[in-house]
Amino acid sequence: MQNTLPKIAILHSAIVDANRPDEQDTLVQVAEIQRTLDALGYVTTTLPFGEIAQVDQALRQSQVDVVFNLVESIQGKSELLHFPALYLESIPLPFTGSSSSALFLTTHKVLAKVMMRSLGIPTAPWYYPYAEIGAQYEALPGRCIIKPVAEEGSLGITSESVVKGYDAMCQKHAQQCATYGGKWFTETFIEGREFNISVIETPTGMRVLPIAEIQFSLDGASPKMVTYDGKWTPEHPDYLGTTRHFPQTAADQPLLDKLQTLALQCWHGFALRGYARMDVRVDEAGNPWVLEINANPCISPDSGFVAAAAQADMTMEQVVQSIVESSIGEITHV
Ligand SMILES: Nc1ncnc2c1ncn2[C@@H]1O[C@H](COP(=O)(O)OP(=O)(O)O)[C@@H](O)[C@H]1O
Ligand SMILES: [Mg+2]
Repeated sequence: MQNTLPKIAILHSAIVDANRPDEQDTLVQVAEIQRTLDALGYVTTTLPFGEIAQVDQALRQSQVDVVFNLVESIQGKSELLHFPALYLESIPLPFTGSSSSALFLTTHKVLAKVMMRSLGIPTAPWYYPYAEIGAQYEALPGRCIIKPVAEEGSLGITSESVVKGYDAMCQKHAQQCATYGGKWFTETFIEGREFNISVIETPTGMRVLPIAEIQFSLDGASPKMVTYDGKWTPEHPDYLGTTRHFPQTAADQPLLDKLQTLALQCWHGFALRGYARMDVRVDEAGNPWVLEINANPCISPDSGFVAAAAQADMTMEQVVQSIVESSIGEITHV
């Protein structure tokens, strides 16, 4: 019998530094998605996003119908991750996940904040010293955090990223630029709880998956937050002290409802597609503040997105099938 399912190319980042755990995670993710697509009966091929002429030739030669877009960075730079989507739109060839413009807007965390403000989505006050989108200087009383503008995975974030006062902020900013390169910005550190809200498009409509809370039992002096080691270094105390759970108490229900509404506001406001995860802090007065929108979030077996899907009794096959279907227009986008 002839296979009528579309042929899928799994497009992924070419690995620059195989020692970085976040880059190793990319390969685990590719293997898992390929295994799942194979189990669903699709014909698959994998393709690193390198030289564009070679990618173009490979896609045409293998007569691919759909691209599963897992590219998280180009030459190690997350700020370029919208580029493969832009290129696929230009062919055009259907691909999974969000459009190039949604990826561009959400990857640049400060542009995303500007957009959130204009959409009425709460996001913490920030300080951005570069001119290209209009410098934004807000007085940041209290503690603040210095973060990369366009990197993911808590890159460069340690307990020392949280400082107080203008001079300490400038000093840390200069240090991070010198150590890691790229652009950095500052925002008010939201003391309080942290939540991840995962959303998926399914054949029966949009689904907000069970909301996860990140709980911290860190050294008393450390700010409660997900550091690089807390995310990626299993032997580090931050890793052991950073855990995920799914709150279900009646007392939390009004907050969870509010977070669900906020996640959908982000989804529609940024015209996301397929799947996404919003990271939100909730201050001590119960007000949520969106930290970032992850269009095309990580879907490795141990990722927050897959954990939330499992909590909703969705299998990896159902997750992957929904993501593929939303890319090929079998689902009406709202
Ligand atoms: N404004 C903030 N207030 C409190 N914690 C923050 C803030 N910004 C970032 N963090 C902490 O740093 C982590 C990483 O920041 P985030 O903006 O989600 O970037 P990414 O996950 O892409 O590295 C968050 O999960 C959170 O624990
Ligand atoms: Mg995050």
